[in-house]
Amino acid sequence: MKTVWCLGSINIDLFYDVPHIPAPGETLAATGHSSGLGGKGANQSVAAAKAGAKVHHIGAVGQNTDWVIERLKSYNVGTAQIAISDDPTGQAIINVASDGENAIVILSGANRTLDEAAVSAGLAGAAPGDILLVQNETNLQIEAARIASDQGLRVLYSAAPFDADATQQVLPFTDTLLLNEIEAEQLQQTLKQSLFELPVKNIVVTLGPKGARWISTQSRDVFETPGIQVEAVDTTGAGDTFAGYLAAALARDFEPAEAMAFAGRAAALKVTRKGTADAIPTLEEVEVFDP
Ligand code: RIB
Repeated sequence: MKTVWCLGSINIDLFYDVPHIPAPGETLAATGHSSGLGGKGANQSVAAAKAGAKVHHIGAVGQNTDWVIERLKSYNVGTAQIAISDDPTGQAIINVASDGENAIVILSGANRTLDEAAVSAGLAGAAPGDILLVQNETNLQIEAARIASDQGLRVLYSAAPFDADATQQVLPFTDTLLLNEIEAEQLQQTLKQSLFELPVKNIVVTLGPKGARWISTQSRDVFETPGIQVEAVDTTGAGDTFAGYLAAALARDFEPAEAMAFAGRAAALKVTRKGTADAIPTLEEVEVFDP
């Protein structure tokens, strides 16, 4: 099996249950709160590891948050390539409304203090055919994607949070681009190109409860994996769960259709649970999931 490497953010997620997402100027009383491990990068690493892949995370945290590293280790994520920064560990304030929707504010902190030499050293142990996961919550995702692509890795890039500039620069080194429907629309409008014209091999568009679409820009094949109807409690991290499970499936040489269905089941199960990394289902839970 190939190894999954993930250059990505590590956040402390602070959750607030709210009746609805606050409007500008509105003060709202939370009906509950909790905290846990999160960050798009950490969530994807944890998802891939829970799906059975061998995973190494490349990133940074601040001082005095050893529990964050310990939590990653407890999920079998390799942490040797995580630097300790003078900046604080990233944080996310996550409002979760009663319909499961969310609104997130992040403090990047240590996530944007990555050092190019460390990233390069972090990927030194990767082998051709391995997978690199990157997102847009760190610095150096462009450099990491370039190094990985030069080394023969397959780069899976989640263009979230959406940043047109960063996305455009990572695309030449990307094998498979992951977007939600809104990001796909924004990207096409910004670049004035259709998805088929992008310089990547594959594009995965997640469609929320409607499932996900796989687009091959080379063969022009398009297929959809249908959505699984569940009662949504918290959609936070569902996209990360999908990305991590997809990476693990591709690392295990699943065909695209099988990999997409596998990732879709994991993401649907995540939506039924509150939380992010800690709430991502295990492989055993996904296998017995009977919606
Ligand atoms: O995608 C969900 C993640 O976005 C949360 O875990 C939060 O930390 C933000 O990065």
